[in-house]
Amino acid sequence: MPFRNVSKVEKPIIVSGIVVLLFSFAILIISVFQFGIGVSNCVTNMTPFQKGEVIAHDSGHYEVHYVAKMWSFEPNEVHVPPGAQVDIYLTSTDVTHGFEIPGTDVNLMAVPGVVNYARVKFPDIGTRSVICHEYCGTGHHDMAAKIFVEYEWMMGQNVKPQAENIPRGMKLMQDKGCIACHTVTGAPGTGPTLKGLFGKTEKLNDGSSVVVDDAYIRESILEPQAKIVQGYGAIMPKFQVSPEDLNEIVNTIKTLK
Ligand code: CUA
Repeated sequence: MPFRNVSKVEKPIIVSGIVVLLFSFAILIISVFQFGIGVSNCVTNMTPFQKGEVIAHDSGHYEVHYVAKMWSFEPNEVHVPPGAQVDIYLTSTDVTHGFEIPGTDVNLMAVPGVVNYARVKFPDIGTRSVICHEYCGTGHHDMAAKIFVEYEWMMGQNVKPQAENIPRGMKLMQDKGCIACHTVTGAPGTGPTLKGLFGKTEKLNDGSSVVVDDAYIRESILEPQAKIVQGYGAIMPKFQVSPEDLNEIVNTIKTLK
C-alpha cells in the first residue's frame, strides 16, 4: 500500500497534485496533435532569416538579412543611404564563415543554426566590402560582397557612389535644404516630391492646374507663395539663388524621372 505512511491530511493534496499534472500533460498533447501548436523551431528555420534580404523600413533605417554559404554572401550587393542605421542579421547555411566590413566595427561569425547581429552606420557615400575572414574551404579567398553607400536618388540610376558623380544641382539642393522637405524618391514629404515632377500636371489650391515646366519650377523656388499645390501648406521660404545655380537645380529636377 503506497500511501501506508501518509497522513489523512496529505493524501488529498498528493492526489490532487497528480491530477493537475496529468491534466497539464493532456492539454500539452491535445494542443500539439489536435491544434498543431508546437514548440518553436531553431531561429534559422523561421522565414525572416532563411534568405538574403534588404528591408528598407524608411530612409533612416535599413535591415539586411545576410546568408553566408560556400562561397558567397546573399545578398551580394546592398544599397543603403549614408547615415542610415543598418541592422545586420547574419547566418550560414553550411559551415562557419566570417563577416567583416573593413573600416567599421562589424566583425561577426556566420554560424549554421545561429543568427548573429550587428548595427552599423556608414557616414559617407562610397563602396564598402564585406569579406569572409574565417577559412571555409577552397573558395574562401574569393568570398566577398559589396555595400553601396549612396543617396536614395542614386539607387537604380547607375551612378557610382562617389562625390564627383553627384550633379552640382543635387549638391545645391542638399546644401540649401530642399531635400529635407521635397524627397527625390517619390516618398511623401512636407512638400511635393521632386521625382517625376517635371512635365506633371499639378492641381493648385485655388482649383486651377498647371503643367510643371521650366518656368513653373523657377517661380516655385524664387516666389514659393505664387502657386500652392493642393494639399500642401504655403510654408516654403523664398530662396536667393544665382541664375547659374537655378539652371543647375532645374536641370537636375528634370532628370528625376
Ligand atoms: Cu566563407 Cu571564408
